[in-house]
Amino acid sequence: MNKPTDLFRIPVDHDTDTNVSSNEHFSTVLEARLSRRSLLRGGAATAASALLGVVGLSGCGGSDNDTVTSPPPVNTTPPPPAEKLLGFSAVSKSLADTVVVPAGYTATVLYALGDPLSANTAAYKNDGTDTDFENRAGDHHDGMEFFPLSSTGTASTSAVDRGLLAMNHEATTDEKLSSHFVHANGGTQSLPRPALEVDKEMALHGLSVVEVRQSGGKWAYQKDSSFNRRVHQQTDIELSGPVRGNALVVTRYSTNGTRIRGTLNNCGTGRTPWNTYLSGEENWSGYFTRAATDDAARGNDKSVVSLKRYGRDQGAASRHGWETGGLDDKYQRWNISRKGASIDGSDDYRNEMNGMGYIVEMDAYDKSKSIKKRTALGRYAHESAVFGKPVVGQPLAVYMGDDSRNEYIYKFVSSAVWAAADATPADRIATGDKYLDSGKLYVAKFNADGTGQWIELSISNPAIAAYAGYKFADQADVLVNARLAGDAVGATKMDRPEWCSVHPTTGEIYFTLTNNSNRRVEPSGSSQAAPDAANPRVYTDMKGTTAQVGNPNGHIIRVKEGSAGSSSSSFSWDVYLFGAESGAAAATVNLSGLTADQDFSSPDGLAFSTSTGICWIQTDDGAYTDVTNCMMLAGLPGQVGDGKKTTLNHARANGTTLAVDTYVGKAATADTLKRFLVGPVGCELTGITETPDGKALFVNIQHPGETTSSANIADPTKYTSQWPSNAGYGAGKRPRSATIVITKNDGGRIGS
Ligand code: FEO
Ligand code: CA
Ligand code: CA
Repeated sequence: MNKPTDLFRIPVDHDTDTNVSSNEHFSTVLEARLSRRSLLRGGAATAASALLGVVGLSGCGGSDNDTVTSPPPVNTTPPPPAEKLLGFSAVSKSLADTVVVPAGYTATVLYALGDPLSANTAAYKNDGTDTDFENRAGDHHDGMEFFPLSSTGTASTSAVDRGLLAMNHEATTDEKLSSHFVHANGGTQSLPRPALEVDKEMALHGLSVVEVRQSGGKWAYQKDSSFNRRVHQQTDIELSGPVRGNALVVTRYSTNGTRIRGTLNNCGTGRTPWNTYLSGEENWSGYFTRAATDDAARGNDKSVVSLKRYGRDQGAASRHGWETGGLDDKYQRWNISRKGASIDGSDDYRNEMNGMGYIVEMDAYDKSKSIKKRTALGRYAHESAVFGKPVVGQPLAVYMGDDSRNEYIYKFVSSAVWAAADATPADRIATGDKYLDSGKLYVAKFNADGTGQWIELSISNPAIAAYAGYKFADQADVLVNARLAGDAVGATKMDRPEWCSVHPTTGEIYFTLTNNSNRRVEPSGSSQAAPDAANPRVYTDMKGTTAQVGNPNGHIIRVKEGSAGSSSSSFSWDVYLFGAESGAAAATVNLSGLTADQDFSSPDGLAFSTSTGICWIQTDDGAYTDVTNCMMLAGLPGQVGDGKKTTLNHARANGTTLAVDTYVGKAATADTLKRFLVGPVGCELTGITETPDGKALFVNIQHPGETTSSANIADPTKYTSQWPSNAGYGAGKRPRSATIVITKNDGGRIGS
């Protein structure tokens, strides 16, 4: 996420509670290739050795077809020792202001907030006086994908020494209104906000593309690469798919409802099988303000229901007050009150928020191509968007979560069926039009018996068409208000769905459920939900003297599609891991039996390596941070159904018991789950991608030192973190979000 992800800091705009209803990454071309080649090499190998066997093949130049079936060249030198995945020594929990990795590994800072992206941009002084953020790295590095570049600078699926990192810049570090580390004196903490501060903050949000190269074992970003790019709040973006041109997205900027400026609060990512970048817009709602009398101004029409469901009651204040920067349209757009006299909203920004909340597709290799919001995938607080394993002749499935408390898990199924030639198309964004603009959107219902259903969110579904809570006009309205459609069909309220990823061999889909402070045995009020099989825990965890209630540590659920594959309407599921402190009660909290080398809280980023098959788990935690900073773990999971059924007996106030059955995956061992990395103070770990050979792992450290008070901006000794300057990177002592690259000192793959 970004900010107060955590349970027990004040949520500024995160994980809101608006569900009051009575509800690569890595599945890429590489992955498809990997599984096909694994099959070519014989089915008797274990998953791990099959994955190992692919490595030699995956380094075979720019061609990505499957015609290379010859054995590796004869090696006349003695073979190196057999690689053992998770052979490293687990990293201990840590409160140090540094990045800790296992012995034998090196983590190097590569690309931080403010770094120049053009030859003409000045070096970052990091004292709050810097400008020109449209040509610098944005803030709060989040989801990220590596796009290989051949030696001649063309798109590749196999290059390992040169590539583009495309990444999200989710937010900024702020305590009150101002992003204090990027302004000289901490900025203006009251309204109105000065235009220059607002301009800087708007430019810090969005996406960046930056070229990176490796030479002699050292990675560096290329300041003057022509591929470098920033996408920010002034960037023109197309609305694509069923919502394009709909009355719900008509604004003064786009009177025909086809365009919007910017992509906002971008969190998780994905990559398409045709090698483009997907970015999820998450907590965009908090950036908009509404007048205290706006319900009446709108005639109390159905837009009021929609706005409330998406977190913008009338009178809501915006996170930064950008709307106060001046009369210019670029500031006024953040006020979504009905101000104009028009019927259709073409004279104001009453509909502006309907243009945020999508999965956004960008061709990282080609600046000339439009960036498009893929509205067919629905509008909510998006995280990652991950493809099931593509099968020729079958539709593609994209899996997604809505990260707010008690929100839903979704699946999009394309109308078009997969054609192998589309893995390397001439026009990647046109290929996105083909697969992502037409299809069906489903929401998940998890049953108590370990099965589940994908329920289509269609205007022709009577439960949606006749929903009493909101009158849907058409399918575009269903997509814009996907949360309300999910309410209508009784989707399962989850413990904050964050990232998902697809296991490269089993094809099962793993979703992190980061935590939920509103899960209660006996819910009180509409924002709380009772435990169920898929979200079974309700307990109290102490942080010092503070009682943390609900599901403070989160879990990771996994789904196995039915026999119809990507287009299945049913699935089975279990819980891969329950986050917990190792010392917590085994029968009720530490259900996965985590040891001190494995315990974690609030899983968030999740990605399978297509090289090693390792499941990388990243945390964005506030519950266990009295003991350890956020971390990254490496897992080698089994599959749905490899564990057992467990019953949790929750005590009710009246002395009776609420029994909840759940399904716990096989307990991890020291060989199948280990802590790999712990980050600096106040950060979250997020964003993870790798070179195709698995030998360089790129990871983002977001918001180190975010617990620093803006009142202490002038005194670096009072910063809660001075990373990465304390790691020798860059000027100034203000903490900066940054990308690190992890390599193994013996040149091996990461996680071995
Ligand atoms: Fe931006 Fe839900 O994490
Ligand atoms: Ca996240
Ligand atoms: Ca605790």
